[in-house]
Amino acid sequence: MRLDKFICDCTGLTRSQAGKVLRQKRVTINGQLVKQASLQVADSDQVVLEGKPLTIVGLRYIMLHKPAGYLCANDDPEHPIVFNLLDEPIVERLHTVGRLDLDTTGLLLITDDGQWSHRISSPKHHIAKTYRVWTADPIGDDAVSLFAEGIMLRGEKDPTKPAELDIVAAHEALLTIHEGRYHQVKRMFAAIGNKVEQLHREKIGGLQLPADLAEGAYRQLTAAELELLAK
Ligand code: URA
Repeated sequence: MRLDKFICDCTGLTRSQAGKVLRQKRVTINGQLVKQASLQVADSDQVVLEGKPLTIVGLRYIMLHKPAGYLCANDDPEHPIVFNLLDEPIVERLHTVGRLDLDTTGLLLITDDGQWSHRISSPKHHIAKTYRVWTADPIGDDAVSLFAEGIMLRGEKDPTKPAELDIVAAHEALLTIHEGRYHQVKRMFAAIGNKVEQLHREKIGGLQLPADLAEGAYRQLTAAELELLAK
């Protein structure tokens, strides 16, 4: 691989920025100062930029336990963003797989693999998402059949896809949905005259938020977890 491309892949710099750091004599290969962008880098070469060894950042598949108060956006003037919680190189390459609201907590997937995130969030693939919901008013038993049949949300033409509601306590339930409309869970409860007070995503497909992943913490998905999501 060309040296300038290698620098870009390791750092997120653009080609022209990589050319600049080379011209500024800030790069060595195996201890020798190098300036030529077209040099070929071999696997065994150690490329160092200002004292920092460079390694290519591969595709990342991350699960984050999102705390309340963090926005799923790449930039925001008012709120902290979920990417502030990550200690990752080239964080600007990462994106969230779908979004959780500012006040929603729980399982959030983050990646730099656009095809993967598309597959998981595309309605075509019907990947289920399970939320624990706490409501202002008691949840009536009729909500189970209403959500199973699908309900009309304000301002929409089609009813929601059948969803499974499991009432856990008077004000608490698990809701599994198979699509991802804007503020869907809150709007579904609003449509039956209730209000979501707290919302927490527990599961995406077969992948459960691990009990030992603290709020604000994250880790890479294991191969087995990636496989669960591919099913
Ligand atoms: N549905 C909502 O209303 N909010 C979320 O954050 C996720 C699903």
